[in-house]
Amino acid sequence: MDLSDKFARGQTLFFRFFADAFFAKRYGHRAVVLETVAGVPGMVAGMWIHLKSLRQMKTGYGPMIRELLAEAENERMHLMFFIEIAKPNWLERALILCAQAVFWNYYFIFYVFFPKTAHKMVHYFEEEAVSSYTSYLQLIESGQIEDVPAPQLAIDYYEALGPGARLSDMVRCVRADEQTHSNANLRMAGGQADDVSSEATSAGQASADSNPTGLQA
Ligand SMILES: [Fe+2]
Ligand SMILES: [Fe+2]
Repeated sequence: MDLSDKFARGQTLFFRFFADAFFAKRYGHRAVVLETVAGVPGMVAGMWIHLKSLRQMKTGYGPMIRELLAEAENERMHLMFFIEIAKPNWLERALILCAQAVFWNYYFIFYVFFPKTAHKMVHYFEEEAVSSYTSYLQLIESGQIEDVPAPQLAIDYYEALGPGARLSDMVRCVRADEQTHSNANLRMAGGQADDVSSEATSAGQASADSNPTGLQA
């Protein structure tokens, strides 16, 4: 494990500690607050690479820009699903405001100077998201959290979800998205290539992969 890896992992454990302390097993609320943070890195990185392409007046950045912006959009959709499951209280709303103000600026500066470490950190964040959605799923499957019907928005969004889909089905799709983000960010950090074995394909991810104009640019 090199220094960049240690730093990325350390940052993740630091944030995980606070998430565990604050939310404990309130996974619906945890998902709402953490998805507001998860939507930041893809937008910051996509914006920065877009600006880089403008400055350098160079092609070749298009696929990465589109992939990062689609990741941000996908995370925003996760937020829209979970907001129907758990309504944040005033303390959580205040936390979301502060987290966005701090994390957007922090991640931007970090990304400008250490993009690979920043992608690695997001890779570790996403791995934590996968494990936290797995714990959420276990509570639903064991009956400790009611397996309510999935929000209509999620049913419309995921090809894998039908009209009778439940919360557990939606959490599986969201978890598959997080695994996709984890793999993609590891690739962008210069680590291993993507694993394409994810179980669900979301509309957001599908649109990231498709390129209607056929141009890469
Ligand atoms: Fe997410
Ligand atoms: Fe994610």
